[in-house]
Amino acid sequence: MPHHGAAFTLICARCNLPLAPLIVPPYSPLLMTREPSPSRPSETDAPAFQLPEFGLKHLLGIEGLTPREIDHLLDRAETMVAISRAVEKKRHTLSGRTLINLFFENSTRTQSSFEIAGKRLGMDVVNMAVAQSSVKKGETLLDTALTLNAMQPDLLVVRHSAAGAAALLAQQVDCSVINAGDGAHEHPTQALLDALTIRRQFGRIEGLTVAICGDIAHSRVARSNIHLLNAMGARVRVIAPSTLLPSGIEHLGVEAFRSMEKGLPGCDVVMMLRLQVERMEGAFVPSLREYYRFYGLNAKRMKLAKKDAIVMHPAPMNRGVEIASSIADGVQSVIFEQVEMGVAVRMAVMEALQEGAGA
Ligand code: CP
Repeated sequence: MPHHGAAFTLICARCNLPLAPLIVPPYSPLLMTREPSPSRPSETDAPAFQLPEFGLKHLLGIEGLTPREIDHLLDRAETMVAISRAVEKKRHTLSGRTLINLFFENSTRTQSSFEIAGKRLGMDVVNMAVAQSSVKKGETLLDTALTLNAMQPDLLVVRHSAAGAAALLAQQVDCSVINAGDGAHEHPTQALLDALTIRRQFGRIEGLTVAICGDIAHSRVARSNIHLLNAMGARVRVIAPSTLLPSGIEHLGVEAFRSMEKGLPGCDVVMMLRLQVERMEGAFVPSLREYYRFYGLNAKRMKLAKKDAIVMHPAPMNRGVEIASSIADGVQSVIFEQVEMGVAVRMAVMEALQEGAGA
């Protein structure tokens, strides 16, 4: 895996987008636009406490975000948890604004939670049905985006199989863009919701030891989490077979292990990943049965981590492949709390970006 500053080389002939994981240097203009934020929510919808100003227009990755910016989003998301748990869930801070979900890859959690989050903030939400759209007639990603841009949306949420897709769109459209997963590059709102879940469990992130286990090579979740956890002062381990552990991964500031038995002792958080077969070219593991035998999280392996360790998974899960059902459904699992935090984090991100965009 290339590390900080490496350039992509593979280009998709159809949509003219990079196919290889794209690594953009911190603070590249590709990643974020900082603009003054003159407008604030109305008094009735103002946050419960005063947050420092948030100056980003787009959220394209975690790489390059400062700890202060991450804290800002997590603090803001904390207030959204209370709103989501109330009987009356509606705020009106983004009332009259339009959110378009543009998902070129399948999604259950991310798309639905962006939709719910947008509606809870008072937005009009459009879910583009890509399968029924003119993309199927050969329209390029850029033409699709420019067409949607002409309809004056305020937020565009994009998931695409090509690394760099969201960053490319952010350069072409007028509204804020949120990356909802671009190839094996980044999935920033997933890392933020994971961080919020961890912070609520332990009261902090700094000083915790987090093991990210499984298909590191093809995982945008792993990459975004590595950036975020490092920025917030956690110790990050990655555990995977050599075939799923990119060479040079240590340059991202992690400790690499090839065995669960060696990597799990002393961990506060065990984060499991799915085998990303849709991004694999060829066989990376001899068989699913053998993968589970050596890398599946079961009760015996879980005992190696700290007694109060939590189990996380971004889902979708493959039970019996990377995780035993007894662990996924067990008392240490916070997998469904992660889903709940997803709505709160996405509410926080959209509200913050709209302020950052000066909207
Ligand atoms: N974790 C996650 O991104 O799930 P979906 O693919 O269902 O959105």
